[in-house]
Amino acid sequence: MFPSVRLRRLRRHPQLRELIRETQLSPKDLILPLFVRHGQDKKIPIPSMPGQFQLSIDHLVREVREIDALGIPGIILFGIPEKKDALGSDACSDSGIVQQAIRAIKDTNPSLLVMTDVCFCEFTDHGHCGVVHEETGRFDVDNDATLELLQEQAVSHARAGADMLAPSGMMDGMIEAIRNGLDEFGYDHLPIMSYAAKYSSGFYGPFREAAESAPQFGDRASYQMDPANGNEALREVELDVGEGADILMVKPALSYLDIIRRVKEGWPEVPLAAYNVSGEYAMVKAAAANGWIDEQRVTLEILTSIRRAGADMILTYHARDVARWLN
Ligand code: PBG
Repeated sequence: MFPSVRLRRLRRHPQLRELIRETQLSPKDLILPLFVRHGQDKKIPIPSMPGQFQLSIDHLVREVREIDALGIPGIILFGIPEKKDALGSDACSDSGIVQQAIRAIKDTNPSLLVMTDVCFCEFTDHGHCGVVHEETGRFDVDNDATLELLQEQAVSHARAGADMLAPSGMMDGMIEAIRNGLDEFGYDHLPIMSYAAKYSSGFYGPFREAAESAPQFGDRASYQMDPANGNEALREVELDVGEGADILMVKPALSYLDIIRRVKEGWPEVPLAAYNVSGEYAMVKAAAANGWIDEQRVTLEILTSIRRAGADMILTYHARDVARWLN
């Protein structure tokens, strides 16, 4: 008549709750994205991402010192160049904004893991992730022409001292192209984190403001994935693993927890990252600023759920906050 199995027995004692906790979240699981811009003494707030800034290199270096001290293991860099052009030339230049930033960070904080986003949308005047070719009334990104430039960009990041390359443009064959380029120039020791399953998502809105990278025409649906597709994500992952991806990524995170789970189940031996993107961050910040949710509680719940779904690591703008709360 009364239940003999009682799960609530396990929930009564706080220490016991800790002991049976299945998922752990620590600042050691997090990677902080940072925006570096040209100029001197610039720390420009990003309105749709409270607490995040476009930083000139002098500020970036100060920031990075703090991040290191907080115990966050790594950062991923996004660059906003002084000049954009059709091919995104700054992205491949040894004196480009990202390359300068890497060198400055390596001078001051050599032990921090420095990752770079390998893509063109922040560097092209049209805002697309590669070389655009126009047919009558239609545009498209030229996959294979973009591969050559991605190779150049990756090698240039490596030469500046990057520890890991993260190609995000969703070009077919990008992992193989970058792997070959790195190997050829003596960087066979550098790992690649592939944005393997990257969706065409409205959640990137604030990022595009932050990186000044909104497409000037068209959208990214010809290279990023349809949010309606799950099986296709597994095909993307399979290709990238075959091409030598060392770490996989699913992006965004929250609306794609099922994809995170399926990728982890399909490739349990490959480390998996999830990108908790700008729009996901902005929603929490906006609701918290209105007093509608408890920011700390909701943020930790979100990040824990991404870990529970199967992500080994999370790229998140909340990294600094989390480190302060948990330390
Ligand atoms: C492309 C890139 C994007 C993000 C990371 N890398 C934007 C896009 O595809 O438009 C978005 C990250 C975020 O929203 O936080 N270089």
